[in-house]
Amino acid sequence: MFNLGLDLYYDTEARNKTSAAPDLPFNPFKALIAPRPIGWISTLTPEGNVNLAPYSYFQAVADNPDIVIFSATPGLTTKDGAVSFTDERKHSESNAISSGEFVCNLVTHELAEVMNMTSAHLPRDTDEAAHAGIQMIPSTRVKPPRVAASPAAIECVVVDTHTIRHRGGDHSFQMVFGEVVGIHINDQFITDGRVDTTAMRILTRMGYDEYAVLTESFRMTRPDNDPILDGRLKV
Ligand SMILES: Cc1cc2nc3c(=O)[nH]c(=O)nc-3n(C[C@H](O)[C@H](O)[C@H](O)COP(=O)(O)O)c2cc1C
Repeated sequence: MFNLGLDLYYDTEARNKTSAAPDLPFNPFKALIAPRPIGWISTLTPEGNVNLAPYSYFQAVADNPDIVIFSATPGLTTKDGAVSFTDERKHSESNAISSGEFVCNLVTHELAEVMNMTSAHLPRDTDEAAHAGIQMIPSTRVKPPRVAASPAAIECVVVDTHTIRHRGGDHSFQMVFGEVVGIHINDQFITDGRVDTTAMRILTRMGYDEYAVLTESFRMTRPDNDPILDGRLKV
């Protein structure tokens, strides 16, 4: 059945022109590509200081080998009401690229507020984990430590970077690709050899200031293969 209700068309190019302001006060994009997983990225500065910050432009993009990405915006500045990018780079991005390693810690509902604290813009040599009172513990294969209270931590080695382009040139968003070399999982979330994802109450990002908690799941196998058997065959 077709929905013949009124269709709001948000003109994404008009939003930067004051003469043609779109109908919505805020860009709806992130409210629609939702929920997005949050990669809580721990890295080390060249001096060995811990850096911890959340990234919701974060995703799994391949498996076997397993690859994740996070994408960092450059600094932003405003002049005469217009927003533009600066040359400043996010610390997680520069640390991951210079050291070649990062850890993606999973964020739970219970960790929401401390995760949010680590998104504060702090000086490069400030340890955001210590700032937020978060206990870090050693990783196994990589040097950046992991969040002790996180139900899972994914250790990654940087294998690629990509500067995102748009029709007008470079967007200056930098994607960092990490190959997963090991995963720590709190074994209270493992049942019959499977990770109980919903039991972790993973926090996800939506639009504006909204978050969602992953609490419900159901099972469905594909018509032409069994994903569990498929996973075993690929090992
Ligand atoms: C839930 C959440 C998700 C975020 N996702 C991103 C993101 O995907 N990319 C980005 O550049 N900044 C993102 N930020 C903002 C960064 O966390 C923030 O700029 C932080 O200060 C970066 O720290 P760093 O410079 O130590 O890497 C996010 C913030 C929050 C709270």
